[in-house]
Amino acid sequence: MAAADLEAIARKMVEGGRGILAADESNSTANKRLASVKVDGTVENRQAYREMLFSTPRLGEYISGAILYDETIRQGTKAGVPFVKVLNDQNILPGIKVDAGTKKLPGSPNETITEGLDGLGERLAEYAKLGAKFSKWRAVITPDEKNKTPTDYGIHVNAHALARYAKLAQDAGLVPIVEPEVLMDGTHTIETAREITERTLHCVFNELYAQKVMLEGIVLKPNMVIAAQDCPKQASREQVAEWTVKTLKRFVPGAVPGIAFLSGGQDEAEATEHLNLMNKMGPLPWKIGFSYGRALQHSSLTTWAGKSANIAAAQRVLAHRSKMNWAASTGKYTAEMEKAA
Ligand code: 13P
Repeated sequence: MAAADLEAIARKMVEGGRGILAADESNSTANKRLASVKVDGTVENRQAYREMLFSTPRLGEYISGAILYDETIRQGTKAGVPFVKVLNDQNILPGIKVDAGTKKLPGSPNETITEGLDGLGERLAEYAKLGAKFSKWRAVITPDEKNKTPTDYGIHVNAHALARYAKLAQDAGLVPIVEPEVLMDGTHTIETAREITERTLHCVFNELYAQKVMLEGIVLKPNMVIAAQDCPKQASREQVAEWTVKTLKRFVPGAVPGIAFLSGGQDEAEATEHLNLMNKMGPLPWKIGFSYGRALQHSSLTTWAGKSANIAAAQRVLAHRSKMNWAASTGKYTAEMEKAA
């Protein structure tokens, strides 16, 4: 595919305040989410849940793309309409998670390496045939002072794999979402999160350059610079926004069209407020938006709870959360907008 086509897709993913619905939970993660609302983890229930999400009326006004899992991209509605068509009809680009998850990193067992490079070229070609326009690969970076992680080795091998994936994806005509996630699990401070995020982004962009990835044709999906969930000293919303933008400005070239954050364990309102504050700090070299999983789905999932009688209400909740993040992606979100709903 021509570079211009990749760039056009990447721009479409981040323009106009629209963001990405990350609904690419592996079957085991999806089953955990279903179990949290007392729904059995079966193929039928995963299908029913995703059908509820993707057929949300007018979702495409706020959502530009949806990331699917291998099982999901081959599924459709109960009435037999492929999910890829449901999404295209909503003007939502279908995307696909292509990594195979994490394993203990040989030589440094307290951190992980993301697998899935073997045969990736062929799998990407198949996903493109199935209608995917973009892809995602998540590298996990684990801050832990006790274990002295991440090591430079752990960051390097993960960045190297991300770049291998990104180049293969572009060669297959799919925009790669490049996701180096510094976890917010544990007790580390915002200072530690910043230092590790800097090391990670520095290494990732070196590898993307070395492996000839076209930066105009990617979307970066990073963590925000934020204290870990169990850190006794939590930073203010303003500090998170400022430090995140400052860090990104230092390490992310302006050629990248957009940055779509993961939510990483932040609650829904917090993830929206951080996004809004960052967008008020413009002008910025890139679009700043969202590719949230939990922070878009949580309330919708609990409203649905597996009951068809709740579908319409759960869809209203998803549309509302998506709209709030759409507003935050242009810095126009206010707390009153939550109440108006
Ligand atoms: P969260 O927003 O729940 O962190 O999920 C986003 C995602 O796709 C992680 O890979």
